[in-house]
Amino acid sequence: MPPIYLDYNASTPIDPAVAAAMRPFLDQAFGNPSSGHWASAPATAALDRARAQVSALLGAASEEIVFTSGGSEANNLAIKGTYLAAKRGKAHIITSIIEHPAVLAPCRFLEGLGGAVTYLPVDGTGLVDPEDVRRAITPQTLLISIMHANNEVGTVQPLAEIGAIARQHGIRFHTDAAQSVGKIPTRVDELGVDMLTIAGHKLYAPKGVGALYVRRGLELEPLIHGAGHESGRRAGTESALLAVGLGAACAMAADLAPMNRVQALRDRLWEALQDRFGEGVALNGHPTRRLPNTLNVSFVGRIGADILAQLRDVAASTGSACHSGQIELSPVLAGMRVPERIGMGAIRFSLGRYTTADEIDEVVARLATIAPV
Ligand SMILES: Cc1ncc(COP(=O)(O)O)c(C=O)c1O
Repeated sequence: MPPIYLDYNASTPIDPAVAAAMRPFLDQAFGNPSSGHWASAPATAALDRARAQVSALLGAASEEIVFTSGGSEANNLAIKGTYLAAKRGKAHIITSIIEHPAVLAPCRFLEGLGGAVTYLPVDGTGLVDPEDVRRAITPQTLLISIMHANNEVGTVQPLAEIGAIARQHGIRFHTDAAQSVGKIPTRVDELGVDMLTIAGHKLYAPKGVGALYVRRGLELEPLIHGAGHESGRRAGTESALLAVGLGAACAMAADLAPMNRVQALRDRLWEALQDRFGEGVALNGHPTRRLPNTLNVSFVGRIGADILAQLRDVAASTGSACHSGQIELSPVLAGMRVPERIGMGAIRFSLGRYTTADEIDEVVARLATIAPV
């Protein structure tokens, strides 16, 4: 059997339809979208169309979309851009301990500049309590940034409740939706967010492109100063090639029906592992409020990395990382207070558009031989 890819939360392949949409911008349409002559026209039109496709997926307006180099840049722009644009010396940010490093690192950077950050805890399933958000608010709070779905365990946060609290207090609310776009609904008004991060390579577009939704009227200091691209929010000649890829991927992502098949395969994997290993496996993350493609499972008392090493030709991720020769629990599982005996055995299987039932059955069969009960 060919190698099996179950690491879609790390990155997805580029969908052939996305690649086809991009092709003309590799081969012919090279013009600078800002030039205003015949050579720029196809690029300008493509950029407009792509912006409309991205905004349509979010239920937003085209001018509320800023193209970026990916999820990390979008998170940095949302967080640092808000901090640097803040008036009246407000400098407090509320986030959670299980955010992606692309949120945590800009927050730590701003602490170095004199900002204050509250890192909220999560419960054992990875959920933030909206009441904790409310209690953390101070007169200095200028931003709440809570991820939509966690990349490791897939837990989906109660954004609408948190958004309502943010609105009551007039505080800007950002979400990192890099993992949720294309997997579950992400319309900004339903989520109650003011800013939302998209990462192209998590939804069958290329790496190196993403977007930040910025609600109309919000002030944001650019991270890259220069000419007035992206309505003055991100300087640099736009890549029609990459924008077209993201736009085409967003247009496809609007149809969530294919996720039903993915979820059924994910559940088939979990049920088969429970049948085979019984108490020897434990689910990490929320049992129901979870991304439909994600299964983070612990092989109790084992080391996930060891199991993965033996599962040759199967691409998946562990919940532990090796730091200076020591295997440590991932900060997400540690934040959920998963006991070490369980957490060290974690493997994240993340499925996607091209996963087949045969692949799932093959992985279960191989696990049964290398990880005896
Ligand atoms: C939740 C989350 N946020 C942000 C990112 C970063 O996105 P990018 O790789 O496009 O910078 C990732 C990617 O791993 C992610 O999973």
